[in-house]
Amino acid sequence: MKLLKTLAAIAAIALASLAGAPAQAADPVKIGLILPMSGPFASTGKQIDAAVKLYIKTHGDTVAGRKIQVILKDDTGTAPDVTKRLAQELIVNDKVDILAGFGLTPLAFAAAPLSEEAKKPMIVMAAATSAITTKSPYILRTSFTLPQVSAGIADWAAKNKIKKVYILVTDYGPGIDAENQFKKTFAAGGGEVIGSARIPLKNPDYGPFMQRAKDAAPDAVFAFVPSGEGTGFMKEFAERGLAKAGIKLIATGDVLDDDILDAMGDTALGVISSHHYSAAHKSKENLQYVADFQKANPGMRPNFMSLGGWDGMDLIYQVLKKTGGDTNGDKFLAAAKGMSWLSPRGQISIDAETRDITQTVYIRKVEKIDGHLYNVEFDQIKDVKDPGKQ
Ligand code: PHB
Repeated sequence: MKLLKTLAAIAAIALASLAGAPAQAADPVKIGLILPMSGPFASTGKQIDAAVKLYIKTHGDTVAGRKIQVILKDDTGTAPDVTKRLAQELIVNDKVDILAGFGLTPLAFAAAPLSEEAKKPMIVMAAATSAITTKSPYILRTSFTLPQVSAGIADWAAKNKIKKVYILVTDYGPGIDAENQFKKTFAAGGGEVIGSARIPLKNPDYGPFMQRAKDAAPDAVFAFVPSGEGTGFMKEFAERGLAKAGIKLIATGDVLDDDILDAMGDTALGVISSHHYSAAHKSKENLQYVADFQKANPGMRPNFMSLGGWDGMDLIYQVLKKTGGDTNGDKFLAAAKGMSWLSPRGQISIDAETRDITQTVYIRKVEKIDGHLYNVEFDQIKDVKDPGKQ
């Protein structure tokens, strides 16, 4: 009888502890990562995927008692309907808790309504048109915005004897954002934009646009092209003889991205740009990041896109720690708003009102270090919010 009583007591304790455990304790946190792993913007996908893998390797694959499971999907980078279908399948079939990635603006726009409808956190790790975060209350951005990085170079140009500028940007959201912000800040500094042209996103032919810019005889060309396109742009800048005609090139860091900068050759030397990340950023955290990234991915240099992936994962891990592993959309967003931390790029935070990233923007110059081209930072503007939303 005593034995029976003891057994019953043990069973009761076991049952009670089972009932008390959170139902999903054993379930993994599923992250649906949608990236351009093929097509013209594959470098963006590869950089972010590499950073996400490195983050998990460095910090472990379990947070707040839950395993992290990443489901990677390739949207090929140029078809919003494919991104939308993949996001739908990830939500409905795979039952992901979080959507992440989004290499280009039209792709982020395509997935945003699904994040809102399903109340799923959507971490934008790359796409950089200002308006993206307004398309779903569940969007958080860990990359940057074009207005955020374009103001710095416009201000620098106006203060450094550049009076007349011709603008060349890719003809879609981020390019138009870059153009508008440059015009605004440059005019405020006393500069004049004497002409501008927008280059198609698909199969761009930079030659004729470069010729038009040269014919306008500005002091400088200000340029934005999306990450991965800088090589073609720089080639035409050199071949059409703009530098020889005394025309300087100033740009956002997208044009000189670290993934392809070293292959651009000496045409890129001396080009001034503003951006939120350079692989040459001098900090303890970044030295470690670059060394770990290169060890895990021989022959590759981390670019600014990789940081969007790294910090996107950092955001997810920090939020899960705060919520005790709860991925509920509203709780996730509440925990993420206002969060601030030290990234390899410097101090960053998530603006509580806009859910967009606030960060330091650096002014840099392309220089050769040990035979390799780098964007060397020489000035900085701290705590830059997205001016596109003010
Ligand atoms: C974008 O499509 O939002 C985008 C892509 C690449 C960049 C910047 C913005 O370098």
